[in-house]
Amino acid sequence: MARVETSSSRPYHIVIFGASGFTGQFVVEEVARTVSEGPNGNLKWAVAGRSKQKLEKVLEQAAEVLGKPELRTEVDVIVADVGEPDTLAAMCKQAVIVLNCVGPYRFFGEPVVQACVENGAHHMDISGEPQFLEGMQLNYSSQAAEKGVFVIGSCGFDSIPADMGIIFTRDQFKGTLTAVESFLTISSGSEDGCLHEGTWQSAIYGLADRPKLKGLRRKFNHQPLPVVGSKLKHRGALTFSNEIQQYTVPFIGSDPAVVKRTQRFLTEEHQATPVQYGAYAGIGGMGNVIKLMFAGMMFFFLVKFSCGRNLLIKHPEFFSFGFFTKGGPSRKQMEASSFQISFYGEGYTEDQDPSQGKPNAKIRTLVRGPEVGYVATPIAMVQAALTILNEPAAMPRKGGVYTPGAAFARSTLIDRLNKHGIHFSVI
Ligand SMILES: NC(=O)c1ccc[n+]([C@@H]2O[C@H](COP(=O)([O-])OP(=O)(O)OC[C@H]3O[C@@H](n4cnc5c(N)ncnc54)[C@H](OP(=O)(O)O)[C@@H]3O)[C@@H](O)[C@H]2O)c1
Repeated sequence: MARVETSSSRPYHIVIFGASGFTGQFVVEEVARTVSEGPNGNLKWAVAGRSKQKLEKVLEQAAEVLGKPELRTEVDVIVADVGEPDTLAAMCKQAVIVLNCVGPYRFFGEPVVQACVENGAHHMDISGEPQFLEGMQLNYSSQAAEKGVFVIGSCGFDSIPADMGIIFTRDQFKGTLTAVESFLTISSGSEDGCLHEGTWQSAIYGLADRPKLKGLRRKFNHQPLPVVGSKLKHRGALTFSNEIQQYTVPFIGSDPAVVKRTQRFLTEEHQATPVQYGAYAGIGGMGNVIKLMFAGMMFFFLVKFSCGRNLLIKHPEFFSFGFFTKGGPSRKQMEASSFQISFYGEGYTEDQDPSQGKPNAKIRTLVRGPEVGYVATPIAMVQAALTILNEPAAMPRKGGVYTPGAAFARSTLIDRLNKHGIHFSVI
């Protein structure tokens, strides 16, 4: 099987596609920061997108923010448009890895994945859209395997902390881990935090299209994963969590779907014991519950109709109580914000047979890090890319479409993240 070159036979190790987007600009800064670290000093990279002018502006801004004037002249610009397959092919031929920041992925993602697979470039995205992620698995797994290409989705805050958090918890547990519940809390510090409208749009179209996801999943023809230990009970739509001492709702992002795919891969390919998973997000006290119920009802109603969706897209700030904005967070807001995911796991000690009796041991772990969308996401994406470049022997045996946990379970990604501000620890 042919492997993609990871050396100088392609001009760029990394090409950031969609570098002019709100998230893309911070991925550019993170790559620029990382290449100045000793071991990555020889890394060659370029920015790509549909507007040369905007890309030059992003480099100009990064040069100023990071105090690196050389970015203005030393980083190449590639013009490529999702609607023009030739430009995508030309971009992919030049890259070892394409970091794709062009979303919503349901609209723009597939041509980029296709171009990467056909032209032998690894593809990494920060999608939190299960329909796109699983659709790519269905459509490109065999072709990517033939080409020795890794297509690794959800490499941002969705869903590296959760997916690698479960791997970390499993590895730290002395025995057989069988179930984990996680609780996300976000702190915006002294500033009010928010996310950019790009993520809002992805969420709107994702929820509107949810019924199609069931049909897509049927095509995989999967058998349910075996349940080892006690069956994990799912908490209700709104419950008070004693673990984090606040109200929680089920986490509606891609984490549970991504973790499930990882667990299926590890069970089927490596005969691991599947870990059941429930993900929850803390929402604070009663005041926030009332706000969220009101916003949620309006959101779930409007998202069903095309005119409702248009209304939501036009007024992100109003309908999300300021949580999503057209301008995105300021750097000051980002600096003040942070996240924490607490994992509560249970399983069987080494001397206990997991097929007999109830789980007899517990573990608590924590993943914490900086602002989720534009600080933690670029860190996670860039460290994941460096893992592919530096640790080919730790990657799965063959190319294919993978979740982060499936791709990086045997790598040092967690150590890399620990060194770059996303910390994994046992409590
Ligand atoms: N996993 C996570 O935690 C996480 C965090 C942050 C973001 N995201 C996801 O990342 C995606 C981007 O979000 P964002 O807020 O950065 O959105 P954004 O600011 O709207 O950026 C979109 C980017 O796509 C580019 N683009 C649009 N159409 C294109 C085309 N036809 N050809 C080439 N490029 C095209 C835009 O180029 P122009 O600049 O030329 O318009 C821009 O660079 C979303 O799907 C979001 O959900 C995920």
